[in-house]
Amino acid sequence: MNQEIRIKAKPFYAVLVILAFLIIYSISSNRDCGDEEQIKAALEQSLNREAFHLNQKGPTIYAITPTYARPVQKAELTRLSHVIRLVPNVFWVIVEDAENTSQLVSKLLKKSGLNERSVQLSAKTPTNFKLQGKDPNWSKPRGVEQRNKALEWVRKHLAENGGREKHSVIYFMDDDNTYSTDLFAEISKIERNKVGVWPVGLVGGLMVEKPVLNRDGIVLGFNSEWRPERPFPLDMAGFAISSDLILDNPQAQFSYEVERGYQESEILRHLTIVHEMQPLANKCTEVLVWHTRTEVPKLDAEKVLQKAGKRSDVGLEV
Ligand code: UGA
Ligand code: MN
Repeated sequence: MNQEIRIKAKPFYAVLVILAFLIIYSISSNRDCGDEEQIKAALEQSLNREAFHLNQKGPTIYAITPTYARPVQKAELTRLSHVIRLVPNVFWVIVEDAENTSQLVSKLLKKSGLNERSVQLSAKTPTNFKLQGKDPNWSKPRGVEQRNKALEWVRKHLAENGGREKHSVIYFMDDDNTYSTDLFAEISKIERNKVGVWPVGLVGGLMVEKPVLNRDGIVLGFNSEWRPERPFPLDMAGFAISSDLILDNPQAQFSYEVERGYQESEILRHLTIVHEMQPLANKCTEVLVWHTRTEVPKLDAEKVLQKAGKRSDVGLEV
């Protein structure tokens, strides 16, 4: 009797095993298919961006970088110069926070082959607005003097080189952030009379601060947690501006008069409103720039050497 049951059950178990196999196979092949499609789409996109860089088409992007002398300056600028070398439509406007331009920066521009597509300016932050010794870094705005000097240069340069007829883009590119070359392919899509926006990694106390879009892809606002009441609660690295807006609004610039965190809003309020901003980076789903900050190096041993007149960098530029 028992054996009879066992014999009858055999085909039943066999069908069960086949069914289970079919279910597992269909689930896993579906997932593979999704993964494959995703990989294919990502590959296609990176090839498109690569082709874009090679074609050297896009509008000129004026990348405005305030910078100041400190032990990590050359390292930061070297990193930046390598990104810029890879994106031929970037023109680098570098503004030193100093009385005069420096040898360190001019040599770096020359060596990296960027002489032809850069300009080296200087604008010193007035002493009362400059961070002193132990001041926390947020206590005073940074880059105001330098970015305004750059805007003055860009406006004059644009007026002398085609004016409103010629479309280009202005981007504020701080010297310590991390930029993907793909970001510049995105910036190149900014249309006339538009301010482009995209997510920025590691800023405002969040993994990512990003524009929030509605179903039609219109920017409704931002996901910011820090001072979300700001008219434009985003970081300097998260937007770029079409040149005609810069020419049409000569009053648009940075200011010492505004509260902490309001520099971005200060310039943007003259140029656009939130829902007219142009979302980029795949409807703001990709992070292509990170608000990284470099640790201040500990140089205690160096200070001791310097006191003894034996500094480690004699005859060397670090
Ligand atoms: C954040 C934003 O990312 C900045 O764009 C904004 O200017 C700043 O806050 C602010 O609210 O003022 P954070 O990383 O805190 O930036 O600032 P830094 O990276 O220290 O400075 C921004 C830029 O100004 C850098 O390119 C830096 O080299 C330059 N800077 C800084 C000077 O030219 N002089 C200084 O004394 C300090
Ligand atoms: Mn920074």
